[in-house]
Amino acid sequence: MAKTVIFYFTGTGNSLAVARRIAKHLPDAALVPMLKVDAMTYIGADTNRVGLVYPVHMNAVPRAVVKFIRTVNLVSGHYVFAVVTHGGMPGMAGLHMYDVLKNKHIGLDAYFEVEMIMNTPKGVAPKPLMRLDWELDITPDVINPKLKKANFQAERIARSVLGKERKNIYSLASKSKSIGYFLMNMLWCRSEESRPRLDFILDDCCTGCGICEAVCTTNRIKMIDGRPEWVIEDCNYCYACFNYCPVQAIGVKYYIKKLGRYHHPQVSAADIASQTK
Ligand SMILES: Cc1cc2nc3c(=O)[nH]c(=O)nc-3n(C[C@H](O)[C@H](O)[C@H](O)COP(=O)(O)O)c2cc1C
Ligand code: SF4
Ligand code: SF4
Repeated sequence: MAKTVIFYFTGTGNSLAVARRIAKHLPDAALVPMLKVDAMTYIGADTNRVGLVYPVHMNAVPRAVVKFIRTVNLVSGHYVFAVVTHGGMPGMAGLHMYDVLKNKHIGLDAYFEVEMIMNTPKGVAPKPLMRLDWELDITPDVINPKLKKANFQAERIARSVLGKERKNIYSLASKSKSIGYFLMNMLWCRSEESRPRLDFILDDCCTGCGICEAVCTTNRIKMIDGRPEWVIEDCNYCYACFNYCPVQAIGVKYYIKKLGRYHHPQVSAADIASQTK
């Protein structure tokens, strides 16, 4: 069993790319998708560091990650670190993770944020809050320097993790007593109960290739008569279907432009699909 186990959740590869980079700089690290049915079996008697790498969703920890942590079986003595990737506005997502772990009586030893590329025009937000010119965020001029910086950050994180440094925890602990925390806490509890509906719009240029079905992290998409259908409402809001469609046939309400989609250049559709295998 690996000494460091890094669990990850990713929709468009940013978090996987960061997790890979961290793992590369740690001796004996295993990368395990949180969505894998037997994910927990990767923690063994030798494991002493456990990492959680995932994106910020709506200033919070994604539901899929919260669900995973509720089932996870960590013991005291594990050095636990969390790394979030985000599109520039992580908000109080760190505090949310601190809270989710605290509810399971798990301490967070280190917390890191890595800015990457916003992978969505914010399709679950009301129209005035959406990024309707999102295509401006996904040009090579914007993407390349950010990804390069993220690589350096990931290497720094690996060094901290190797030394089991305690990072950014005291500021989280002090924020947990703030009024902002109580307000956010109400929001997190509400969003646990309500699930915003995310509808996708399919263009006629769909070739029926089935990639969207393969990458879907909840098996929400089924190919029926050569076309994808979102047959259930259960959605991880990961935006994999929207971003990995090779012909940009999938749009979201208010954003159906075919001016590019984003996924991390080194993470393939097969990598995303393998999370649920
Ligand atoms: C539903 C959704 C909500 C998001 N909310 C935020 C947010 O509140 N703040 C932010 O900075 N980025 C936000 N993002 C952007 C992602 O956190 C960012 O692109 C992340 O690196 C994606 O990682 P992934 O490729 O591993 O899925 C959101 C993305 C999605 C799909
Ligand atoms: S990935 Fe795009 S082209 Fe392929 S089946 Fe899905 S919508 Fe159609
Ligand atoms: S429907 Fe799209 S956004 Fe929702 S879980 Fe599936 S791939 Fe992710």
